[in-house]
Amino acid sequence: MIAAYSATSQARVNAALETLFTAPSPELARLYEAMRYSVMNGGKRVRPLLAYAACEALGGKPEQANGAACAVELIHAYSLVHDDLPAMDDDDLRRGQPTTHKKFDEACAILAGDGLQSLAFSALLDPRLSAPDAEIRLQMVSALALAAGPAGMVGGQAIDLGSVGLKLDQKALEYMHRHKTGALIEASVKLGALASGRAEKDELKSLQTYAQAIGLAFQVQDDILDVESDTETLGKRQGADIARDKPTYPALLGLEAAKAYALELRDQALHALRPFDAAAEPLRDLARYIVDRRS
Ligand code: IPE
Ligand code: IPE
Ligand code: MG
Ligand code: MG
Ligand code: MG
Repeated sequence: MIAAYSATSQARVNAALETLFTAPSPELARLYEAMRYSVMNGGKRVRPLLAYAACEALGGKPEQANGAACAVELIHAYSLVHDDLPAMDDDDLRRGQPTTHKKFDEACAILAGDGLQSLAFSALLDPRLSAPDAEIRLQMVSALALAAGPAGMVGGQAIDLGSVGLKLDQKALEYMHRHKTGALIEASVKLGALASGRAEKDELKSLQTYAQAIGLAFQVQDDILDVESDTETLGKRQGADIARDKPTYPALLGLEAAKAYALELRDQALHALRPFDAAAEPLRDLARYIVDRRS
């Protein structure tokens, strides 16, 4: 079920994303090429899938969430381009291919990331992708800005880079993970739910509880895979966190306890979806997938 759902949703978001990288003039061809390279290079598209699944859980059509799906993936792609830069994690491999600064150059990668961030907000408001009413659009822009910015992902990345070599306790590690990865995952669910045009306050609250649990679980699993997967499967260098002495869940709790924690978070997420009917099945499958995934 999740495989078929993923394939359909990935094709939908990829088709929408493809429309966004036409350079307005020849002078900008290289910049647009770098942006396109950073986005259209595979990737599991977990955040778009969450946006579609949240929209459907509330009875919306997935196409209504196309703008939201593109927006969260564009922010994610930008965060990865910058995360891989020499000044940050200094990685050469991403999604099985050279990182953007290796394929192009550092200045180009910085600008491509900047460009992708702006493009995310344009995509969210692009009437060709989706046309929620003005009030909903405002809520979506506000949620995405908050999640992507210094009180969200950027803040989490700042804590991450400031924590290299330090021993964080579980509370501090959780705070970091909830920001650097959790915030955008939470926004993916919220934007998808808003795009349905049918989100009630109590439903948004349950979906937020779900999203917070899987958002943290996602980064716990990412840390686990850094320990026990391999570079070929991951498409990024295995062991990179250990090599850089990054604070991670396996480093803090040990591998087995980290795995148990990921499963506990999955169960919390599933519990939060109890008020929802069968239309939330893709969201339930995604919660299971996030802790079962091997890449
Ligand atoms: C990797 O994200 C970075 C984290 C936030 C943990 P993904 O595992 O979603 O990466 P892609 O998009 O599939 O390459
Ligand atoms: C990245 O976390 C989170 C982002 C906001 C990009 P990681 O540094 O663990 O991501 P990977 O392992 O390089 O994909
Ligand atoms: Mg990082
Ligand atoms: Mg990294
Ligand atoms: Mg990682």
